[in-house]
Amino acid sequence: MHSVTSSAQGWRTAAARLAVLIIIVQALGLRAGWPQELTEPRLDEEITKQGEIFQRRGADVPRGYITNRGLSGYAELLPTGFCDALGRLGSSDRWLDIGAGAGEAMLDYYAPEADGAPARQCARPGAKARAVAMSIEDRRTDKWRQRAASLGDDRLRYLFGKRLRDYSREELGKFQIITDVFGGFTYTDDLSRFMEKVLSLLEVGGEFYTLVPGVHLEDGKDKLGVLYLTELENAIGRPEKVCSWLKKTAGAQVTCESKSDWKRPTELIKIRKVSSDTSVPRMKLVEFKAGYPPDRRFQLDE
Ligand SMILES: C[S@@+](CC[C@H](N)C(=O)[O-])C[C@H]1O[C@@H](n2cnc3c(N)ncnc32)[C@H](O)[C@@H]1O
Repeated sequence: MHSVTSSAQGWRTAAARLAVLIIIVQALGLRAGWPQELTEPRLDEEITKQGEIFQRRGADVPRGYITNRGLSGYAELLPTGFCDALGRLGSSDRWLDIGAGAGEAMLDYYAPEADGAPARQCARPGAKARAVAMSIEDRRTDKWRQRAASLGDDRLRYLFGKRLRDYSREELGKFQIITDVFGGFTYTDDLSRFMEKVLSLLEVGGEFYTLVPGVHLEDGKDKLGVLYLTELENAIGRPEKVCSWLKKTAGAQVTCESKSDWKRPTELIKIRKVSSDTSVPRMKLVEFKAGYPPDRRFQLDE
């Protein structure tokens, strides 16, 4: 009896110690979720797996990998002001959609007026901007090919076969609006390089509209028990919010709208380029697990 009691006490003491340890780890803001930092070959393996997910076709496309959101979907998901900004573009302006999938949003934008197309408020009648859709995999449809051919004059272009970072600035030119709906910003393994490229492609005064799911929210209203997809840390391993990191960017004005009541805590992000001289604090990849979207962890690289 005595030995049963003392072993029960032993368990209680061990459990109490463990609980205290967990509280200390959380209080210090240290990560307990990731088993350990991944080695280069494991990271490469996951990044290759991610590439394979992009290439899946037909019945193999995972249910959560949506590639055909229309312009009304973009208007619902992107930050306030996106529709008005798009509607203000004139015929010499340019719009780039990074991670366009099948390019449905741009097809809606260019839908003939008679179609009674959705999201009319984003695509006012009259002059339209030149639109460039970018996707790693080619998801063009017959509808895309026909519309692009009928518009002619390069008004609707589709780029595929490589990632944003693989294009030179000369190849792409400059844009007044860049959008990204569950595209490169959600999927990249190099967040800071991605952001740097986006800023380099914007005209001064131009705007980037995006969202990022499964992140620590700027307004701190995250629900308990949430599983995060993209986690950032500062140089000493303390959690950093995606918006606090972005707001350290030189030459850009960043606005965030936190959505704590969405399926995943999501930050809607609008970035306005205010100077030709921009610089994004470097984040290095620490962890990457392929998925749709992937799980990622980055750490500020001093
Ligand atoms: C889930 S789909 C989203 C498609 C579309 N935006 C929509 O909402 O229907 C992801 C898209 O992002 C693209 N993508 C991911 N990372 C990218 C990158 N670094 N550069 C360019 N495209 C990227 C994929 O090729 C794909 O077209």
